[in-house]
Amino acid sequence: MMSLVVDCDPGCDDAIAILLALRHANVKAITTVSGNVPVAQSTENALMTVAVANVETPVYAGASKPLKGPQISNDVSHGSDGLGGINRISHCRTSESVSACDFLVDCVSEDDWVVALGPLTNLAEALKRDSDWGKRIGGISIMGGSTSIGNITPVAEFNTFADPHAAAKVYASGAILKMCGLNLTHQLRVTDKTLALVSELGTTNSTFVATLLEFLLTRAEKLVGSRCAPLHDPCAVLAVTHPTLFTFEECSVEIETHGTLTIGMTVIDQRTTRPRLMPNALVATHIDATKALEVIVDSLETQ
Ligand code: RIB
Ligand code: CA
Repeated sequence: MMSLVVDCDPGCDDAIAILLALRHANVKAITTVSGNVPVAQSTENALMTVAVANVETPVYAGASKPLKGPQISNDVSHGSDGLGGINRISHCRTSESVSACDFLVDCVSEDDWVVALGPLTNLAEALKRDSDWGKRIGGISIMGGSTSIGNITPVAEFNTFADPHAAAKVYASGAILKMCGLNLTHQLRVTDKTLALVSELGTTNSTFVATLLEFLLTRAEKLVGSRCAPLHDPCAVLAVTHPTLFTFEECSVEIETHGTLTIGMTVIDQRTTRPRLMPNALVATHIDATKALEVIVDSLETQ
């Protein structure tokens, strides 16, 4: 099994991605960052998720604000608590005393991949401490950016927009990178059919995920008029645990850190008529969504 560190900002889809990673990989640790909700809340949400999964995976709290610029949140997409107002379970889990950055630098090796599901601040802080960190680890699978439209702005995706300077550092780090942008994640959509399949499993994890899916589908209905929602973060897990479900393109990915209208945009060189810029990432362009949903639902069967 692959060894993963999940860096995240739970977040409904982050929580589903954590359970997916626990089923298909050895999750060495979870590191949390401010993103969808402030880091204290994303850390509590990560602790509750591992309590639901009944595993001893350590959680390391990370950055509370971006490298530069204002701290933004995404509570409109995940609720003020980050998990759609789900009923809290009581647990005695606490985060580790070591910071996420220190864990990433001191404890992540060439045998580990980092799956980054939120703003990339923790990874950038690790690179500030050790500029070779990205080259020393197995690789980084990122949910972020887009080869097409944005979500938080017309051209920028939330995770990259929330800390564009951090993203710029990560994409320039020399690490092996896989990028699952909105162009990819919007191919993986959940509906009431997915919800029904999850609900009928009747396990602790499936009951937890069913509540999160109900929140996402209800929000989608309000937002776009139909109970059909993209599932972003699990894509970045599957990109490392189930790579054959994907088509990747080697591309140059650069991050706009100054543009008034374009800050946080992933500028991706997909030109076919001229020599391209030097590639630095495997950009996911297609996913077998049917099979991916099967893997996600099946991952909830056992606990
Ligand atoms: O744009 C989608 C990303 O923003 C996902 O990681 C979701 O959890 C939110 O953080
Ligand atoms: Ca996320």
